[in-house]
Amino acid sequence: MKTVIIYYSKKNTKKVIDKIAETYEVDLINAETVSEADLSGYDKICFASGIYNGSFHESVLHFAEKNLPEWKKVFFIYTSGFRKEGYTQSIHKICAKKKCRILGNCGALGETNWWRIKYFGWNIKGQPDRGEIMKVIQFYGEMLEKE
Ligand SMILES: Cc1cc2nc3c(=O)[nH]c(=O)nc-3n(C[C@H](O)[C@H](O)[C@H](O)COP(=O)(O)O)c2cc1C
Repeated sequence: MKTVIIYYSKKNTKKVIDKIAETYEVDLINAETVSEADLSGYDKICFASGIYNGSFHESVLHFAEKNLPEWKKVFFIYTSGFRKEGYTQSIHKICAKKKCRILGNCGALGETNWWRIKYFGWNIKGQPDRGEIMKVIQFYGEMLEKE
């Protein structure tokens, strides 16, 4: 059964998603421009976002609140400046409230000029690179297999 990715991205997460879409048959919904959709026909639903102030972008959160049916299988993909646990908490909470089964999550680095990254002198220029993208594609394949 077909999978859908609902996403928000300025650049980096979309780069990853486009590679996924080259590999797998998938529908894409941009949460910034689409506010309503019928997701009832999808078995598995992926939410993807760049991380903004510790969370998935609010457009993805709103979309999930409004459109995610109960009892679906969901998983999460994100890109962020830091490698850190907890970035999926906000979207996780919404999906749990809707009794969805959370299959997993995968993060990749994404370059940014966000001041905090500069402050820490963290060099992530060019991210997500090929290795980061391959990691997410492999994760995506695992999610498709997972019951
Ligand atoms: C305003 C702003 C806030 C950000 N907040 C975080 C954050 O809390 N944690 C983090 O690791 N990265 C943070 N970043 C970096 C982004 O998550 C990273 O660049 C991500 O790849 C952006 O994804 P996108 O290009 O798909 O939108 C922030 C970037 C900006 C511009």
